[in-house]
Amino acid sequence: MSTVEDKVERVTGVALKRGLFWPSFEIYGGVAGLYDIGPVGVRIKNRIVKLWRDIVIRENDDLVMEVETPIITPEAVLKASGHVDHFTDPVVECMQCHRVFRADHLVEEKLKINAEGLAVNELTQIISTNKIKCPYCDGELGPVTTFNLLFKTIIGPYSGSTGYMRPETAQGIFTSFKRVFESSRESLPLGIAQIGRVGRNEISPRQNLIRMRDFTIMELEFFFDTSQKRNIPWERVEKVKIKVLDLDMKRQGEKPNEYKPHELATSGKVLDEWMAYWMGVSQKFVEKLGIKNSYFEEKSPEERAHYSKQTFDLMVDINGTSVEISGIAYRGDYDLSAHMNATGKDLTVFKRYDTPKTIKKDIILIDKSKLIKAFGERGKSIIEKLSRMTKDELEGIVLSRKAVDDVIIAEYAIINQTEEKVSGERIVPHVIEPSFGVERCFYLSLINSFRIKENRNILSLPPEIAPFDLAVFPLLERQPLIDKSKELVRLVKDSGYEVFYDESGSIGKRYARADEIGIPLAITVDPQTLDDNTVTIRNRDTWEQVRVHVNNILMTLGELLHG
Ligand code: ATP
Ligand code: GLY
Repeated sequence: MSTVEDKVERVTGVALKRGLFWPSFEIYGGVAGLYDIGPVGVRIKNRIVKLWRDIVIRENDDLVMEVETPIITPEAVLKASGHVDHFTDPVVECMQCHRVFRADHLVEEKLKINAEGLAVNELTQIISTNKIKCPYCDGELGPVTTFNLLFKTIIGPYSGSTGYMRPETAQGIFTSFKRVFESSRESLPLGIAQIGRVGRNEISPRQNLIRMRDFTIMELEFFFDTSQKRNIPWERVEKVKIKVLDLDMKRQGEKPNEYKPHELATSGKVLDEWMAYWMGVSQKFVEKLGIKNSYFEEKSPEERAHYSKQTFDLMVDINGTSVEISGIAYRGDYDLSAHMNATGKDLTVFKRYDTPKTIKKDIILIDKSKLIKAFGERGKSIIEKLSRMTKDELEGIVLSRKAVDDVIIAEYAIINQTEEKVSGERIVPHVIEPSFGVERCFYLSLINSFRIKENRNILSLPPEIAPFDLAVFPLLERQPLIDKSKELVRLVKDSGYEVFYDESGSIGKRYARADEIGIPLAITVDPQTLDDNTVTIRNRDTWEQVRVHVNNILMTLGELLHG
């Protein structure tokens, strides 16, 4: 296959023909950015989700738990989080045909430069200087403005109650953080994961499942105490190597550098060691999707989302084109602080010191009789004023020897030093967020694993994300072979395998179909099976077959599928 475009076309063809995905509401003409996932696609998608759950949650179940919160979000939440004001993309309208385009993408396409994060006036300037016209009708383009990507709705029958479809699952996690914290171990670090549907009213979505308006996201919000000693389970990412391109390297035109996660942690390139750990875990997940070519690219301040202090996008290389599969953001205390400010609710965590600290305190008393003796009625009025002050105000006046009604109060004060034991303090945890779009993982896995062999399509998906573990076929449509095949299907299903059974059509066509949807192995029951209880097992990628006794089938499947 010569180009990515050819590959995309063939994969899209397979997707339609074999039930992986297709445009939604097709009989009404479809809507850009909305896709149905078909029966075979759902199997692959569910396995991708399971893989993520295994790697991110299950392997880290001492650190991470999962929640589910609503898709519909009240306006106040997304106002506080900054999405109502900042979740926007730049748009430009054609003055002739009134089509609207994503301005930065248009500039990138026309001029082959990176325009992500440029301000609206900069984009307007670039469009006019370079005389960029409407790609449809060649009309003049207007000034660049911003467009908010939130889908708006009304909650209940009262028009005053605005809601939005969530653009990320994260806000549901931040607003329920206190509940999760208090109902679980009540200690940091604490990771809260969520998998669910989100909506983003993308401006002109093309590129299949890469840019959808309604998709599934898998997110982890990892809460930690910045002053606590990091106790990071590096052994879980011991075999992982990650390539990193930071901002400096990007400016110098360098290539990404390779690190072990624990090396990256101390390289000075990441804001926190935990960033390196979760980058390692994300890398591990992407490799399990069968994607080998990937690197982390740091985003500049202009390119980052409003809540982020540092972001690395995990980029995968698909036939020479880099596509973002995930973003890892250091959100600091941005979100919890924003929700505390908006609600007045305390979302801090009590951090207990290992050993209580002793703090020296000054206790200030005013010698009232001395004041009255010296100043009479004026003294009484000064005492009255001092009594209305807070402890801190009074302390300030005494320690800095300030006067009240021309009297230096320090001269009438008694300072007693005491010691107080403090067992801890309240802190706002910081957050690191790795975030993956499921359909993007699904689509990129398809493109990545798609091959053509002797003009036949093959999806060389890793067994973990294949729609079925194996196919079972009777060689011929004869009852004894069918009966034996069904017996075999029962046997392997009972051992937990996902099985695709098909008895009709030529065996060649059935193999081709199995290859095309990525089934790693096909077991065929033929006349010899009835004599000696052996079957053939055919490999999707090599097309080689081995003959195996049915008594050994489960052991052989285990070896072939899981190594
Ligand atoms: P992009 O720059 O491609 O618009 P983003 O930086 O806005 O993506 P994030 O907000 O970091 O994306 O979202 C996290 C992940 O969600 C992305 O890495 C991607 O896998 C997925 N994602 C984001 N937008 C879409 C979309 N419109 N359709 C499908 N998946 C998406
Ligand atoms: N194992 C059956 C076939 O090759 O067709």
